[in-house]
Amino acid sequence: MEKNESLLIRAAFKQPVERTPIWVMRQAGRYLPEYLAVRKIAGSFLDLCLNPELAAEVSIQPLDLMEVDAVIMFSDILTPLMGMGIELDFNPGPQIHNPVQSHQDIEKLTIPDPSVSTAYVGEILGHIRKGIAGRAPVIGFAGAPFTLACYLVKDEQSKLYAKLTTLFYDEPETARLLMSKLTRMTINYLNYQIDNGAQMVQLFDTWAGIFNPADYKEYIFPYVSEIFASLNKRGEVPVVYYINGGNHLLELMSQTGADVISLDWKTDISEAKRLIGNRVALQGNLNPSILFCRPEVITKKAEEIIKGFNGDTGHIFNLGHGIDKAVDPQNLLHLVRTVKKLTTRKL
Ligand code: CP3
Repeated sequence: MEKNESLLIRAAFKQPVERTPIWVMRQAGRYLPEYLAVRKIAGSFLDLCLNPELAAEVSIQPLDLMEVDAVIMFSDILTPLMGMGIELDFNPGPQIHNPVQSHQDIEKLTIPDPSVSTAYVGEILGHIRKGIAGRAPVIGFAGAPFTLACYLVKDEQSKLYAKLTTLFYDEPETARLLMSKLTRMTINYLNYQIDNGAQMVQLFDTWAGIFNPADYKEYIFPYVSEIFASLNKRGEVPVVYYINGGNHLLELMSQTGADVISLDWKTDISEAKRLIGNRVALQGNLNPSILFCRPEVITKKAEEIIKGFNGDTGHIFNLGHGIDKAVDPQNLLHLVRTVKKLTTRKL
C-alpha cells in the first residue's frame, strides 16, 4: 500500500491514520441548497442521476462545502434495475411501475451489461475523478439483493415485508432465482464501478435486519458473501456492508468478507468493536437526528462515539443512516470539523 493512500482507505484496512476520516450517507442531497439548484436544472431526481456532468457536480459539492473526506458517487441503489427491465420513477421515494409478482416475472428479468445499461455511471465516475484530481477517494455503491427485492416486489402494504418473507418461506426456489439474478447483476455493476475508478464500494442492505440470524444466514448471507468474493481489486478497494437494524446480525455480517461494517445508530460502537472489531473496520454511527441539535450537543455525541472506539484505527466516522433533508448544513459542517479536531493524533 502506498504511503500517501487516503485516510479513508487506510482506516478501512485498519492501517495507521493521523485522524479518523468522516463522510456521511446521503451527503449529496436535499439538505444542500446547492444540490436543489442543480436538481432543478436537471429536471427531476432521475434526470439528475442520468446526467453525468450534473451528477458529478452534486457528488463533489459536499467535498468543498462540508469538508468531508470522501466523495460518494451520486446515484441511487434502484437505478441499475432499469437495465433489468424495471420501469422506475422517484416521487421523491421510488415508484416501480411493473413490480415482480410471479415466477415468470422473475424469469423475464435480464442481466444487463453494465457498460451498456449504466454507461452513465462510468461517465459520472470519470467526471468525478477528473474534477477532484485526487483530493479525496471516490466511493461507489449498490443495493444488496434482498434490499433491491424489497422494492421489486413493491411490498408497500406491510412494514414487515410480509409478501417477500412469504416468498422466501413458501417458495424458496422462486426466491433463490430472484436473489441469484440480483446477485449477478450486482457483481457486474460493482465491478464496472471499480474498473471505472471507484476506490471503495458500499453495499446497502438496508432492510436485511428483518430476518433473525438463522434465516439471514440461509437466505441472505450466501449471496452477499458471493458478491464480496467476486469483486475486483480485493485488498486494494475496500468493501463496506450496511444494514439498518442489523445489531443482531453483527457476527454474520463480519463473516461476509466485507472489510468494513457500517453500523446504524442503535448499535453501541464499543460493543460492536469488542464483538467484530478484530476482523473488520467499523463505520458510523451517529444518530442522524443529532444533527438537528445545538452544536454543543453534536460535539458531545460525536465525542461519545470517538471515545467508544477508543482512538484506535479502523474507524470511519459516519451517521447511522442517511442525513435528513431538513438538516442545517452548518450543523454537518460543525460535526465534520469537530470529528477532525477530536481525532487528530500523532502517528
Ligand atoms: O449517499 C449519497 O449521497 C449518494 C446518493 C444516494 C442516494 N440514495 C440518493 C438519493 C445513495 C447511496 C442512496 C441509497 C439508497 N436509495 C438506499 C440505501 C440507503 C438507505 O437510505 O437506506 C435506499 C433504500 C434507496 C432508495 C430510495 N431512493 C429512497 C427510499 C428514496 C426516497 C428517500 C427520501 O428521503 O425521500 C430515494 C430517493 C433519493 N435517493 C434521494 C436522494 C438524494 C432523494 C430524492 C431527491 O433528491 O429528489
